[in-house]
Amino acid sequence: MEFNQITLEMGDGWTLLTINRPTVMNALNQETLREIEQALDQVEAQKKTGALILAGAGEKAFVAGADISELRQLQSASDAERLASWGQRLFSRLEEMPIPVIMAVNGYALGGGFELALSGDILLASERAQFGLPEIHLGVMPGYGGTQRLVRLVGKNTAKYYAMTGERMDADTALQLGIVQKVVPSADLLQEAKGLAAQLTAQAPIALRYIKQTINQGIETDLRTGLQLEASSFGLLFHTQDRMEGMNAFLEKRKPSFRGE
Ligand code: CAA
Repeated sequence: MEFNQITLEMGDGWTLLTINRPTVMNALNQETLREIEQALDQVEAQKKTGALILAGAGEKAFVAGADISELRQLQSASDAERLASWGQRLFSRLEEMPIPVIMAVNGYALGGGFELALSGDILLASERAQFGLPEIHLGVMPGYGGTQRLVRLVGKNTAKYYAMTGERMDADTALQLGIVQKVVPSADLLQEAKGLAAQLTAQAPIALRYIKQTINQGIETDLRTGLQLEASSFGLLFHTQDRMEGMNAFLEKRKPSFRGE
């Protein structure tokens, strides 16, 4: 499929989706949202994709938010609500994908760009990355999940601080807050992301999927229900060939070869 606003590449153990609008800091217009949806359809149709990496084209930005020139044209509250719901659905789809999603944040991740990054499973940042929710400076607020996902990671008042001030945080601050899992030199970011994707792709896919699902669902519920979910997922994994392979390989002192069965 031909895309105008993104590129989609597949390699050994990784798929790389790059938002490709560098002249506007990779801002997300509606065409870009649509193309990301189509790319996810493509990725999901190919069963053996491994992990998905999202990145922004160029040197400066991951994604600098929703496209403000398009936002300015919105005529009514219901148009704006529809757009927010669409972006939220798309980011939730990413969050719930059955494969790991790695965000490779090479520069500005602002507004909708920060919200996009927050829907990933693992965030790698370059030393130049900057995160923030500057919507307040536009007289609005985050609309693609920022008020909900950030608070779950950093707590209520820290989330309020960043959403209310619009202040940016650098990569090290994001690391300290637990938003980012690793900070690497800019030149190494994509290699690092591909290496991590390949590492995850070599793990047992069903176990990976259950880990992701159990953590995502568990954080939305109380501890007792979360623990039940964990026990039931743990139990289900004992039906898989991969658990026999993993345990046999350990006892036979060899590397396991998982098949996702
Ligand atoms: N939408 C549309 N265009 C954007 C954009 C955006 N979000 N961000 C940057 N651009 C455009 C600029 O207008 C500029 O275009 P021209 O060359 O035609 O003037 C070009 O990208 C380069 O940007 P700057 O000249 O501003 O570059 P800079 O290096 O001085 O600053 C920046 C970079 C800090 C990212 C700055 O561009 C900026 O603050 N961008 C806006 C960030 C923002 O407010 N994001 C929130 C958007 S609203 C949102 O996301 C709502 C939601 O939750 C769904």
